[in-house]
Amino acid sequence: MNTFTVVTMPGDGIGQSVLPESVRVLEAVGFDADYVHADIGWDFWCREGNPLPDRTIDLLAQHKLGLFGAITSKPKKEALAELDPDLRDKGLVYFSPIVAMRQRFDLDICLRPCRSFPGNPLNFVRQTLDRRIDEPVVDVAIFRQNTEGLYAGVEWTDPPAQVLEAFETHKKFGFFKGTPGPDLAISTRIFTRNACRRIVRAAFEHARKFGYKSVTVCEKPNVLRETSGMMEDEAKRAHQDFPEIQLWSTNIDAQMMWLTKNPEDYGVIVAGNMFGDIVSDAFAGLVGGLGFACSGNIGDEVAVFEPTHGSAPKYAELDPPIVNPIAMILSAAMLLDHVGETEKAERVRAAVAAVVAEGKVRTYDMLKIAGGPLSIGRGAATTQQMTDAIIARL
Ligand code: IPM
Ligand code: MG
Repeated sequence: MNTFTVVTMPGDGIGQSVLPESVRVLEAVGFDADYVHADIGWDFWCREGNPLPDRTIDLLAQHKLGLFGAITSKPKKEALAELDPDLRDKGLVYFSPIVAMRQRFDLDICLRPCRSFPGNPLNFVRQTLDRRIDEPVVDVAIFRQNTEGLYAGVEWTDPPAQVLEAFETHKKFGFFKGTPGPDLAISTRIFTRNACRRIVRAAFEHARKFGYKSVTVCEKPNVLRETSGMMEDEAKRAHQDFPEIQLWSTNIDAQMMWLTKNPEDYGVIVAGNMFGDIVSDAFAGLVGGLGFACSGNIGDEVAVFEPTHGSAPKYAELDPPIVNPIAMILSAAMLLDHVGETEKAERVRAAVAAVVAEGKVRTYDMLKIAGGPLSIGRGAATTQQMTDAIIARL
């Protein structure tokens, strides 16, 4: 028996191609683990009416450590149309299994590091006054509250009477009074103080541990006075225990603009669920995009690591696969960090850095060409070739 058992959930589309590559890297770096496959994703929605089957939840509850690939989610009507006809009248509603998993296991801390690798042709560059090209070093760690806010799933179209009654106690709701039920959609943004406190503290602790000089709360307290306001209050409170770290505050919209002006100025960023989703994709775009964006969903007991890219159905059928496995491999490195295998994690990141810097093996995204059956002929590495190159550098 190995020390750790990792629940592998490849999911849909390219999740199936990249997840096994990350396992190859974990094995090559000598991580002492067993792997057990678990079902998740669209097929299980269509066949069983549940994209996150109970048997998968049981495996995660048992082993506490997961690697997840990607899932396909489709809109309400398509989801119903693809469901097994025998299940159609049962009132089943599709809900994203990764969001469900984060909530089921209270994986409330989402960490998304965005760090540029020198030599990556996809790194963000800007122009200096004298028209030279300047490539700022981006090293940002995003902490996204992962279970609440707009993702809580408390929403309605045509809300029930009691809900309307409750809303009508708020004077601002007067504006919507008289809107016919079917024409009224409500998605709530719910924050709890406890979750705000946990995410801001995790951000400060990370800043201290890794020597970042600032923590930036990225919300919108000028408009979302209650929810963003609570996050800001908790950040100020937590700051008292971390006086050596600066506390900054930006609005999400302004942050989107500043990120291409001065990305090197930011260290740790902390945000609620939706804004964290947005700001993490935005920073990922500066360091190579979704092919490089890794993440960890971390709770007190269970942790699941995943690339932030989707299932990219259009690339899923290509044989051999051509998508960039680096985001998945870096997510596996985060799993190593999480279990205290820091030295192995560093070796994986150093191997990725070496392959990127050398520039000989590049997937289509790194060549800035279209992905498709022709990209290999145009010099792009396959998914496996990229992994092979990384393993060779270990
Ligand atoms: C992410 C993704 C997910 C999210 C989707 C797939 C539900 O965009 O992990 O960032 O919105 O959280
Ligand atoms: Mg996202």
